[in-house]
Amino acid sequence: MLLRDRVIVISGVGPGLGRGLALQCARAGADVVLAARTRERLDAVAEEVAGLGRRAVTVPADITDDDACRELARIAVETCGRVDGLVNNAFAVPPLTDLGTVDLDAVRAGFETNVLGALRLTRLLTPALVEHGGSVVMINSAVLRHSRRTFGAYKMAKSALLAMAQSLATELGPRGVRVNTVAPGYIWADNLKWYFGHLARERGVPARQIYDETAAALDLRRLPEPDEIADAVVFLLSPMARAITGQCLDVNGGEYHH
Ligand SMILES: NC(=O)c1ccc[n+]([C@@H]2O[C@H](COP(=O)([O-])OP(=O)(O)OC[C@H]3O[C@@H](n4cnc5c(N)ncnc54)[C@H](OP(=O)(O)O)[C@@H]3O)[C@@H](O)[C@H]2O)c1
Repeated sequence: MLLRDRVIVISGVGPGLGRGLALQCARAGADVVLAARTRERLDAVAEEVAGLGRRAVTVPADITDDDACRELARIAVETCGRVDGLVNNAFAVPPLTDLGTVDLDAVRAGFETNVLGALRLTRLLTPALVEHGGSVVMINSAVLRHSRRTFGAYKMAKSALLAMAQSLATELGPRGVRVNTVAPGYIWADNLKWYFGHLARERGVPARQIYDETAAALDLRRLPEPDEIADAVVFLLSPMARAITGQCLDVNGGEYHH
């Protein structure tokens, strides 16, 4: 129960890591405030959290919208009475096109959600986080560790998010707030399962073969699941990590060493 009776705000609660974060925080004893744009999904995850005996407050919000984020911060503090942690998980897929031809407006839109949205929420929740020696975790990506073609816009956004986390660690550390990053690689959740199924059909091989070929490049020979990545986030949010700030923890089954 690393987060017993703490309150954690999670942005971007989708079917993959967002849901896993909500459930692992609840299993660690926290109440959660869940934000994303799709109310139905928030409600479904909130029901699962309630089934674990913890409270979930749902706030439909677009993190690119100032007013919506202000309202999110207000509801979190007024409903739960405190905020101990913030996980910036929300993300919009940037255009997967070479930088030589990518549409600049699409790159700019990616920054709005993936970088400025996280900064906006962090700033709005800073007063509450300062009150309880809080902790912020930015969800990044293994795209930090490679420069494959078509990933340029994604890498630009996530590199900016990492730089921002480090600068915020320096700014907020003297006020007792820690800011860290978790960088997952593959996440074995619905999106990837669908994609591997698609590849398998294209190649006329069993989906398991695609999984095994991919996992062969990881030291642990298996793809991390959402809960396993969420556990690293729970650790960084918890007092166990009280001397850790400005760091990036790669949770990738050993695909890249950093
Ligand atoms: N999936 C992977 O394989 C993978 C690999 C490495 C890193 N990551 C990182 O892990 C994190 C989670 O990825 P995931 O694929 O598992 O996604 P997820 O947690 O299942 O869902 C993310 C959610 O973010 C929400 N969102 C997007 N734009 C938003 C906005 N403007 N305001 C509020 N919410 C917004 C979307 O929900 P709404 O549409 O309802 O708003 C979306 O469902 C991301 O930061 C991603 O970069 C993922």
